[in-house]
Amino acid sequence: MFLPRLTLSAFIIGALARIAFADCQWSALQDATDDYISSQEDGKPSDLILADGVTYRENNKIVSDIASGILGQPLKIDSSRKIFDQPNCATFTEIVVTDEENPYVIGTQLHFDGSGDNITLALIDTIATTTGDWLFNATKSLGYIEQENWGTIDMGMRDSRETLKAAADAYLDLWGNSSAPVPWGTPCRRMEGGAYTGEGLETDSCNVGIPDGEQPPNSDRRYVVDETVGSVSVLCKFETMKDAPDSHEFRLEGGKLRYVHTMTVMREM
Ligand SMILES: *[C@@H]1O[C@H](CO)[C@@H](O)[C@H](O)[C@H]1NC(C)=O
Ligand SMILES: *[C@@H]1O[C@H](CO)[C@@H](O)[C@H](O)[C@H]1NC(C)=O
Ligand SMILES: *[C@@H]1O[C@H](CO)[C@@H](O)[C@H](O)[C@H]1NC(C)=O
Repeated sequence: MFLPRLTLSAFIIGALARIAFADCQWSALQDATDDYISSQEDGKPSDLILADGVTYRENNKIVSDIASGILGQPLKIDSSRKIFDQPNCATFTEIVVTDEENPYVIGTQLHFDGSGDNITLALIDTIATTTGDWLFNATKSLGYIEQENWGTIDMGMRDSRETLKAAADAYLDLWGNSSAPVPWGTPCRRMEGGAYTGEGLETDSCNVGIPDGEQPPNSDRRYVVDETVGSVSVLCKFETMKDAPDSHEFRLEGGKLRYVHTMTVMREM
């Protein structure tokens, strides 16, 4: 009786060790993401960003000369909020620039290869919205963001990665499938460019303004999931809005939607 039990626990410990090893270290992801943010502030892509083998995608298009994109422009960043996906070695950052001369709201996924603290940047995937994009107003966005809480969720209260991703997918499936199983929460507040569904009421809902009937899908979805803050970032192509480059980020609490942030590029690109 003793031997099988020993073998089993040795097996479980071995499996856990492998999982821990495959994860990317939080501090390595954080350092690289900070490097990206300071590159954007300076308008000078760092060595990390310019390294061989890094693909740069801006508003759903591959850009070969990184400095010709938004990363080549210095921006006065007012706020940046990051999430970390250790199993998939990726991060997402939401950046707000209220500078009247050059306002932006940017959502950027960084995807890395490697494990532990030995990680290499492979892909910068960014959606950059400014004047002319869907309901854009960076000053309003910043005001809403400052009233929200995207903080760490207590260990025992966290939703699983699968729950978070399923919720994000169900929401995006609403375009084309009005019976997609979205875990609506109340209150829930959606920031869509500079517009907000929330009025500060306990009854605020995100289940408003979503078209029903036949719709083209939201396709080419790319994900970053951080269960420590109940958040999922999805970059995609919003086919209903002329194939617009789009960023959706969701926060869930207790399995229910709490916040939705969207950025949708409407300028002719
Ligand atoms: C880091 O990863 C690279 C690529 O996988 C590998 O060639 C290199 O040996 C690793 N370095 C260390 C210190 O583990
Ligand atoms: C953005 O919203 C602010 C605050 O409501 C307003 O003062 C400003 O005029 C708006 N900016 C634009 C470009 O519409
Ligand atoms: C729509 O979503 C429901 C609920 O998940 C699912 O049963 C159904 O197959 C979906 N329909 C389509 C056309 O994808």
